[in-house]
Amino acid sequence: MHAVHTQNLSIFLGESQALTNISCCIKEGEFVAILGPNGAGKSTFLKVLLGVLEPSGGNVQIFEQSPRKVNPEWIGYVPQAKTLDRNFPALATELVVTGMHRTWLRRISGADRAAARDALKMVGADHLANRPLSKLSGGELQRIYLARSLARKPRLILLDEPATGIDTVGETDFYRLLDSYRHKHNATILMITHNQEVASQHADRVMVLNRRLFGFGTPAETMCDECLHSAYSTENQNSNIPDLRTGANHA
Ligand SMILES: Nc1ncnc2c1ncn2[C@@H]1O[C@H](COP(=O)(O)OP(=O)(O)O)[C@@H](O)[C@H]1O
Ligand SMILES: [Mg+2]
Repeated sequence: MHAVHTQNLSIFLGESQALTNISCCIKEGEFVAILGPNGAGKSTFLKVLLGVLEPSGGNVQIFEQSPRKVNPEWIGYVPQAKTLDRNFPALATELVVTGMHRTWLRRISGADRAAARDALKMVGADHLANRPLSKLSGGELQRIYLARSLARKPRLILLDEPATGIDTVGETDFYRLLDSYRHKHNATILMITHNQEVASQHADRVMVLNRRLFGFGTPAETMCDECLHSAYSTENQNSNIPDLRTGANHA
């Protein structure tokens, strides 16, 4: 079964065309990395898969259903640049529970608390369950977000630059957790990253995106200079080009 299938997907945001004619098939169990400069439409692409944005043209299916009809428990999401104010007075467990209910709850049931605890355990963070968010390091917070996305045992996980702000050790750990979840549950992973090394180490295939698809294939096929150069140097594109090799620049 295809986890994700798009045909000629196009998206307009206001006046500008964020994505043009994206056609791709992603099989269940695949790990796909998405590379592309800032403003390339990467986050927009994930938002379409989440059903947050409606395509302006073309077709999108998640597990052979439209994104808004698919069982929300099947999809886990780790958002970009944590918009959450770290001083927000909440505990790690409460953040995990928001992933299960899509909202903050006043009172958490015993069953939810147990599910959150299981998810935290999965990412080796059960000791952080009662830690206020303000007292978590960047890497710890990232793990909590991962636990939040895994709490309902999703079949498809969408991650938007998840390693931003984590040190190298934390990052290695993070990907190990992700890989182990994927293998255990045959989960499909789509991850936006600026880090070429991470993409070639973890992804089965790499999607090079800049408003349109510049390449979609194995890391060896897509991360050749020619393919990346054309995607990253396209005229009228964004001036702020990240350094792919170091993963610097995470705007
Ligand atoms: N809500 C919006 N309205 C209009 N333009 C938007 C909106 N969100 C993003 N954009 C624009 O769409 C383009 C793609 O954005 P985005 O998907 O966030 O890029 P990326 O994640 O690759 O950096 C950018 O030029 C951005 O400025
Ligand atoms: Mg983005």
